[in-house]
Amino acid sequence: MPPRGFKYFKRVIPLSPGFLQRKKTSFIGVDVSATAVKMVELSAVGKQQFRLDGYANVTLPKGVISDGNINDLAQVADTLRSAWRLLGTRARQVVLALPTASVISKRVIMPAGLREEDMELQVESEANQYIPFPLEEMNLDFQVLGPMGKSTDEVEVLIVAAKKEKIEDRVAVAEEAGLKVSIMDVEAYATETAYRQILKQLPNHSKKTITMILDIGAHVTHVNVMVGTHSVYSREQAFGGAMLSQEIQRRFGLSHEESEIAKRQGGLPDSYDQEVLQPFLQNLAGEVSRAVSFFTNSTQYNKVDHILLAGGVAATEGLAALIEQKAGVHTLVANTFQGMTLAQKIKPSQLETDAPALMIACGLALRGVDA
Ligand SMILES: Nc1ncnc2c1ncn2[C@@H]1O[C@H](COP(=O)(O)OP(=O)(O)OP(=O)(O)O)[C@@H](O)[C@H]1O
Ligand SMILES: [Mg+2]
Repeated sequence: MPPRGFKYFKRVIPLSPGFLQRKKTSFIGVDVSATAVKMVELSAVGKQQFRLDGYANVTLPKGVISDGNINDLAQVADTLRSAWRLLGTRARQVVLALPTASVISKRVIMPAGLREEDMELQVESEANQYIPFPLEEMNLDFQVLGPMGKSTDEVEVLIVAAKKEKIEDRVAVAEEAGLKVSIMDVEAYATETAYRQILKQLPNHSKKTITMILDIGAHVTHVNVMVGTHSVYSREQAFGGAMLSQEIQRRFGLSHEESEIAKRQGGLPDSYDQEVLQPFLQNLAGEVSRAVSFFTNSTQYNKVDHILLAGGVAATEGLAALIEQKAGVHTLVANTFQGMTLAQKIKPSQLETDAPALMIACGLALRGVDA
């Protein structure tokens, strides 16, 4: 039986630096999220040195994407085209990702030294056992993670599978917008790739540094705990910035679009800060604090060294300080571009505000540059 559709799913896990082969000079990471299309273009300018050439974050109309499904292909393609124009680039090679919830992943143990074709067969037979859908409907890929403990005859292999239609939809909208998809990654892996840029800069970082990454989006917060560069825990929690938008709409009689603009640009009545924003931030900090307790109570780890805030909500003034105080954990706001060279058109102060929402797009661009 021929391997099924490995085409877009090659190498979903970041390769080790020693494995690098040909280097593309410039790559665009594209995060098609629930509320926006985000793009980041990076170039390699030296060994593990990158330049941020440009970025864009263009809002999608409401309802175009729900639960990771693209409901309106034409609208998403249009938004991709607008975002790409804002980058002002000629590059068209992009790295995309699937929402983590659309992907089934499993670690298995296999004999070491199998040929690629034999591994593909073995992956298929493993996948047959645990994937609750016909394999004809799936794209599969795998990555050898390394030897199993000290054993030399066994290796640990990560198998990932996603519905073909989910991949095809994303590839189709990118192609419709004139872009070429070279890698299809997974959002959670992109967050991990981007996190490596930040880990290097954390005080006293080591292989044991425990960081809880919170990607606070519009409806969902993705919680991912990293020990060193390895993810040990992930879950989703139903809170996000949309709760604040709804409250703004209700209180001040605004539309969804108006509330989004007001949130970013201000102009709301004086009562907004005390009566709407602060209660929302308090609530959010409480949720984060509970997420930390839940993690330390339900795993072998009894502390968290850092909390890293990503997503559109993360840049809200005062949020990091409030979380640090409530959870009692050092808290910082994600800027995965720190230490990179910036193109002249990019303003560092604006980037500070924009960076948290671009974490996944940045991780995807890094995959491209590294591939
Ligand atoms: N400057 C800002 N200040 C406050 N809130 C903001 C700001 N910018 C964006 N947001 C809020 O952040 C949320 C969107 O965040 P983000 O872009 O990370 O979500 P998303 O990636 O589309 O969602 P998901 O990751 O769930 O797919 C919205 O609720 C938006 O109102
Ligand atoms: Mg997001």
